[in-house]
Amino acid sequence: MSDPALIRRAVLTGTGTYLPAQIVTNEDMAKRVDTSDEWITERTGIKQRHFAAPHETASFMGAEAGRQALSAAGLAPEALGAIIVGTSTPDNAFPATAVQIQAMLGASKAFGFDLAAACSGFIYGLSVADAMIRAGQVESVLVIGTEVYSRILNFEDRGTCVLFGDGAGAVLLQARNVAKDGAGLLSTHLHADGRLGDILYVDGATGRREMPGHLVMNGREVFRHAVSLLSSAVTEALSANGLAAADIDFLVPHQANKRIIDGVGKKLGLPPERVVVTVDKHANTSAASIPLALHEAIAGGRIKPGALVLLEALGGGLTWGSALLRI
Ligand code: COA
Repeated sequence: MSDPALIRRAVLTGTGTYLPAQIVTNEDMAKRVDTSDEWITERTGIKQRHFAAPHETASFMGAEAGRQALSAAGLAPEALGAIIVGTSTPDNAFPATAVQIQAMLGASKAFGFDLAAACSGFIYGLSVADAMIRAGQVESVLVIGTEVYSRILNFEDRGTCVLFGDGAGAVLLQARNVAKDGAGLLSTHLHADGRLGDILYVDGATGRREMPGHLVMNGREVFRHAVSLLSSAVTEALSANGLAAADIDFLVPHQANKRIIDGVGKKLGLPPERVVVTVDKHANTSAASIPLALHEAIAGGRIKPGALVLLEALGGGLTWGSALLRI
């Protein structure tokens, strides 16, 4: 008989990442567009990004990150239940990136699908995986964020092309029966406001042959909404769990811009040592940024078992949300 004091939760059991070999520094970008290391560093905190080679597609990178997460958890690919991929830059309109990754991993029993929520894709993916695990539909889910934004950047627009990079991150969530204060996802909260769709979007897709599909952004407007929407998302997560900011061990935010990250950290009153920042090395990798940062902090021993970690993201849509996770 199962212990009634235990709760079925989605527990993080493995993480993995993939970053393309090619590193592009701000100085390299300055050779391509009219910009400078000083401008980019001051406004965003970004120093470099990785750009994918032709073979480094969303499915290729996502599979590498996923394989690493499975191996860290010691779960055989054939035992995996599902794959959810957050991406805005899939190899094909279909098959879904998740299903391509299923084949690459040999995860023969897993179902899979892609989820389009731009930079919030990983948080949206976590939320769906959490619901499916809690409902008893599946025992294990790989949640992957994988992006090749270098292929949708407009290199004529210096205001956007310096901000993004390529990469993939993955986490494995597994159903476990745990005590109330045990590990696992404690809550997720999702939001969207389609009225703000025109401040950050890609102007095309396979359904619109006449449009090439480049990223377009009103940086000022995005910045203005980001700090206030993310701060309220963070407050919502804390109050839903009866917690104060001081209870959070680490904030692992979407890595878009150091000034946005600092703004949210400041509103929370969190000291810098409790905020994970990788935007300097990866730039904005959209749906991949949180799992990349999470992996780095966990694999590097900074975030340890038992730590309470708050994740938050905002992206095109607008979409935004949070996830509260005990490691
Ligand atoms: N290098 C040098 N100068 C640049 C530049 C670049 N890469 N990009 C823009 N500029 C110039 C502009 O042309 C403008 O010059 P002007 O005053 O002579 O016209 C000046 O810098 C200021 O541009 P502006 O766009 O007003 O800058 P900003 O202070 O708003 O900073 C962002 C731009 C993009 C860094 C900032 O708005 C931002 O971080 N927004 C949020 C973006 C984001 O995180 N998006 C993803 C969310 S998921």
